[in-house]
Amino acid sequence: MEKFYHIVTYGCQMNVHESEKIAGILSELGYKHCDSPEQADIVVFNTCCIRENAENHAFGNIGMLKKLKSRRKDMLIAVGGCLPQQLNKAENLHEKFPYVDIIFGTHNLHNLKELIKLKLGRKKTVIQIDEREGEICEDDKPLRTSYPNAWVNIMYGCNNFCSYCIVPYVRGRERSRSSEKIIEEVRSLVAEGYKEITLLGQNVNSYRGELTFPQLLERIALIEGKFRIRFMTSHPKDFSLELIEVMAKYPKKICRCLHLPVQSGSDRILREMNRRYTSADYLEKVRMLKAAIPECAVTTDLIVGFPGETDGDFKDTLKLVKKVGFASAFTFVYSKRAGTRAAEMPDQVPEEVSKARIIELVELVNSQTRAMSQTYIGKTVEILCEGYDEKRGLYLGRDEFGRMGYFASDENLVGKFVDILVDGANGVSLTGKVV
Ligand code: SAH
Ligand code: SF4
Ligand code: F3S
Repeated sequence: MEKFYHIVTYGCQMNVHESEKIAGILSELGYKHCDSPEQADIVVFNTCCIRENAENHAFGNIGMLKKLKSRRKDMLIAVGGCLPQQLNKAENLHEKFPYVDIIFGTHNLHNLKELIKLKLGRKKTVIQIDEREGEICEDDKPLRTSYPNAWVNIMYGCNNFCSYCIVPYVRGRERSRSSEKIIEEVRSLVAEGYKEITLLGQNVNSYRGELTFPQLLERIALIEGKFRIRFMTSHPKDFSLELIEVMAKYPKKICRCLHLPVQSGSDRILREMNRRYTSADYLEKVRMLKAAIPECAVTTDLIVGFPGETDGDFKDTLKLVKKVGFASAFTFVYSKRAGTRAAEMPDQVPEEVSKARIIELVELVNSQTRAMSQTYIGKTVEILCEGYDEKRGLYLGRDEFGRMGYFASDENLVGKFVDILVDGANGVSLTGKVV
């Protein structure tokens, strides 16, 4: 009899890639992918807890499976990822959703096969949450689902302890994969026909394998073949001239874009956030980057409503956004995470204030993104075709700067680099004709 799995993923790119590893494990156990929990023999929730709403979202969806599970007792439900890795959260989940069969932490993903086998032989819920990160596991073979794009972990964990952030608590200390293993993985992905490789780490600039991150990036850029390289995320405090030089040296391979989360434009808030740079340091790094690679697109993450953020602090953020001119930005309202330093800080900002601030910030960011899109009209850009949009009847893909482009074609162009002449631009995406 055929068995099916369904995976629900929340959170960052790292989690998306980990879901591919979960899919790899499940397919080794004989399960096949299906699109809905109704058909599935096992449903896995790969959760995120970076903000309260990410957590609530997962809680809501797990709750919705209660009925289905009561009809289909043989169906397995597993909850993994960052949410249960938080202090006391696994017990909490177990109490709230006693019908969940398996609860596993971020350090236990590679054990999932054993956990499923264990659960199939007993009634009791299987809970495995290791507090400490173990050795890096190299055995998981991801079942990749995003051709022509592929993600490659270069490091795990984070040592930065930004005062608002839960990641260091749920992902453990920084550890880097071996440079040779990474290079080997990229080489075989390119040989298999993948066209865009994204190197993943919470802070790629503190990568320490046999090589440093710039050295690793250079070795990867030297791999033959037509493909693109991206990497995320760079922490501004560690973003170096050496890295800029490697980016500038291989513009055909390394995308001329950089995600450099600034979080705030206020030096006082940056200090309270434990970011270890000032707005002037940040602007200087962007200046160095643009001096070496003038076309380079810079994107960022911004938080409003951090404890103690005044109108003046917020104005400093707006000022910095105007100065840099981000190609796009992810904007967040600060969310209090139990166990972090910021959760204990006085002066939590009232919700209405944060809401007003985020509206103003989003407007500014969007107006910049729109203005930048307009400059594309009449230009030819190279798009890596990633898929087909059924609704619009158009193929889509992104240029090296990360901008989405839509175009018509009779031929299936997925996985191909396509030149399009841009004839339309809205806020975030472009339309054009194949030339
Ligand atoms: N390691 C990466 C990404 C971390 S999470 C980095 O340092 O850039 C992605 C983003 O989520 C962060 O950049 C930050 O802007 C946001 N974030 C993290 N914790 C948050 C919190 N408690 N409330 C609101 N946003 C948060
Ligand atoms: Fe969180 Fe800061 Fe680490 Fe990024 S660098 S994951 S924001 S603690
Ligand atoms: Fe979320 Fe964990 Fe990523 S908390 S953002 S899934 S590292």
